[in-house]
Amino acid sequence: MRMLKIALIGAGPMGLSMALNLHKTGRAKVVAFCDHSARVLADSLAKFTETTGETPMAFSSYDQLIKNGKYDGVMLALSPETQPKLAVSEMNRGKHVLCQVPVAVTMDDCHALIKAARANDVVFVGAEQAHCWHFFDKWREMAAKGELGHIIFAEGEYLHYEPKWDWFVDKQTGQPVMTDDPSLSQEERYEKSWRHRVFRHPILYLPHTLNPLLTVTGGRITKVSCFGTKEESYTSTGFQVRDLETAMMYNDNDTVFVVKTGFTSPHGFKAGTGAHWYQIKGTKATVEWARSEIDCPKRFDAATKEWTAEDWGVQPISDDPLLKDSGHGGVDMIPILAFLDAIQKGVKPRMDALACVELAAPAIAAAESCEQGGKLIEVPSFR
Ligand SMILES: NC(=O)c1ccc[n+]([C@@H]2O[C@H](COP(=O)([O-])OP(=O)(O)OC[C@H]3O[C@@H](n4cnc5c(N)ncnc54)[C@H](O)[C@@H]3O)[C@@H](O)[C@H]2O)c1
Repeated sequence: MRMLKIALIGAGPMGLSMALNLHKTGRAKVVAFCDHSARVLADSLAKFTETTGETPMAFSSYDQLIKNGKYDGVMLALSPETQPKLAVSEMNRGKHVLCQVPVAVTMDDCHALIKAARANDVVFVGAEQAHCWHFFDKWREMAAKGELGHIIFAEGEYLHYEPKWDWFVDKQTGQPVMTDDPSLSQEERYEKSWRHRVFRHPILYLPHTLNPLLTVTGGRITKVSCFGTKEESYTSTGFQVRDLETAMMYNDNDTVFVVKTGFTSPHGFKAGTGAHWYQIKGTKATVEWARSEIDCPKRFDAATKEWTAEDWGVQPISDDPLLKDSGHGGVDMIPILAFLDAIQKGVKPRMDALACVELAAPAIAAAESCEQGGKLIEVPSFR
């Protein structure tokens, strides 16, 4: 297998984590880091070199990278507003792309991604990984064996409160500013971060929730309606963001979905999955993840009318030492391996461009529905 050369664009916390995971595989070399914050670039490069002993080239702009960098593909870990533009540009230059998620926050970007992925003989993988948690393997297995019956309902939430988010970027250093102080928006030195902009409609972060559910239910989301609280947080006071958005969705397998997201009000974590929670109701059985840290995963069988506590876990059952400690319960390595397998072995990735836009588009439709007071929106088909 030829060692691949990969450049990282966006060297913040997620980008650095991807670079370290990629290095661990021994199947690819991280040849360049690109970030337009000199401080972030230097800090992340120093940490990468300290851990791996390697020093990739450093670029402070995308233009510089493409002019001087020599590589087979890129890993993108930046704002979901910017990722699709760079992904399209790189695919059109014949480069493979592993893209962080959400892969897009506008319908135009969804269309552009699909167009570029179809026009070029390159690999595109979206870094969704929640579907790799062990209990989702179990739920997919049950669905495939018919043990759930017809799935009539799927629900998920991602309610991730932090007292301080990186609401701003310091224009002088390009570094994120973790704060709970909204008054920084009055100061010339700071600008809103992408999280600040995206949290106006937290439902745009829905793909993390929809992704694992759809791998069990199958089908494509066709219709969406969404409501949210007012555009002013009750807890993170002074921030013009919605504490909660909840979308009702329908797919072409006749399943109803309820999915909610929020980042600015506290709701308590769940055992193993932190801010994420899921349940699926079929005509023969219901499966649900622990609702809190004092609850456990469980299953209800219609035949016996009994609930049973289940020992499903989060960490994938795998002998592969690469997965352990890779992040998010051991699943962060999985998109990276899928990316390498697709390029080096021709294995079709589960999270290809179509799968990714079929997660992003319902979220975009939900945000639009919320703007229009819950109006029903049809989600375009990209098939
Ligand atoms: N899959 C997951 O579980 C998961 C978890 C966390 C974050 N993410 C995703 O990862 C991405 C990055 O998250 P983060 O927390 O590291 O964000 P971040 O904002 O901390 O880091 C992004 C970095 O990209 C740089 N950047 C932005 N635009 C650039 C450009 N045009 N050229 C070069 N550099 C640029 C910024 O300076 C910043 O250092 C986001 O899309 C986020 O949604 C995914």
